[in-house]
Amino acid sequence: MPETVLVTGGAGFIGSHTCVELLDHGYEVVVVDNHVNSSPQALERIAKVAGRPLTAAHDVDVRDRAALSAVFAAHRVDAVIHFAAHKAVGESVSLPVEYYDTNVGGTCTLLSVMRRHRVRRLVFSSSCSVYGEAESGPLTEHSPVAPTNPYARTKLMCEQVLADVCAHFAELRVLALRYFNPVGAHPSGLLGEDPRGVPDNLMPYVAQVAVGRREELSVFGADYPTPDGTGVRDYIHVMDVAEGHRVALQHLDEHSGMQVFNLGTGTGTSVLQLVNTFARVSGRPVPHRTVGRRAGDVAALVADASAVTAAWGWTTTRDLTAMCRDAWQFQQLNPDGYSSRSSLAAGPTTGESPCS
Ligand code: UD1
Repeated sequence: MPETVLVTGGAGFIGSHTCVELLDHGYEVVVVDNHVNSSPQALERIAKVAGRPLTAAHDVDVRDRAALSAVFAAHRVDAVIHFAAHKAVGESVSLPVEYYDTNVGGTCTLLSVMRRHRVRRLVFSSSCSVYGEAESGPLTEHSPVAPTNPYARTKLMCEQVLADVCAHFAELRVLALRYFNPVGAHPSGLLGEDPRGVPDNLMPYVAQVAVGRREELSVFGADYPTPDGTGVRDYIHVMDVAEGHRVALQHLDEHSGMQVFNLGTGTGTSVLQLVNTFARVSGRPVPHRTVGRRAGDVAALVADASAVTAAWGWTTTRDLTAMCRDAWQFQQLNPDGYSSRSSLAAGPTTGESPCS
């Protein structure tokens, strides 16, 4: 009998790609998402890309204990992947209560509902932002944590809650994955990152400049102690992130308690390297201008990605060219995101139900 995985935040950027990866590998997938920052259309796209439907999709807020419990009662859940959270660093500074409530409160509610329904396997969506002001050199899972904003603190707090709960309930199995910078899209161009308003992050901004939706990119600082002076990050293809979650599920039972892993490539890329690669891959110019540093940014954040390879025999396979190519494909086919009426978006998905 196939395993059923409940995915919170399954309509979001990383969640939707992970749902496709799970469906492609024979899992039954139940989505919980309140669509506060995701489009219900992503659920239709998941079914279309995977060629088979989700088992169910529930419009539920993870803080709603009764509604969440009803979802668990309706399905035989074998494992949970918990993505549902707020994720904008800047917004977290002005809306700290909302961030702690949803990210930490939602995780606590989920844990208590899981316990009530005797579900004991969880993969948690964490972030490299827990490292904060980085040490020089690649970050291992043992590098010191020093989050610098409320968003990052919510992720670290969740990890601490999970560790404490695991220490008490011996049957729980938890893997927390600290992603570096997920970018790119599904190679079909049907699924991708669809930020609301002006994108905060580099790749979606670059894609919108290349497609002509925005005039130019502001490069936030060219005076960092990096080879070309611009910020260096560890970009990871969202399909590698999705694959990482699927592989994590297979390794959940190997250790008791909680484990933490980085999910990155181990390769650093500067802003200008990414811009130049995107321009080459898309064949479009990406006008850009250097402005001052963005508050809170650090020079470089790169993973030591070796622990996950040693533990699972798995590694990322998609390079920067693939990340730019797939992001560009999604941007071209969906110039205004999921609400675009491009030929593809307006095609046969209309009227299809993603759920059986
Ligand atoms: C941020 C979050 C991280 C989250 C990631 C992906 C922090 C400090 N950062 O990472 O938690 O996982 O988003 O969602 O917690 N840049 C420009 N111009 C732009 C936008 C960005 O030059 O218009 C530069 C930035 O200065 C940085 C690089 O591009 O050097 C990447 O920025 P961004 O995509 O926003 O990701 P991070 O800030 O690294």
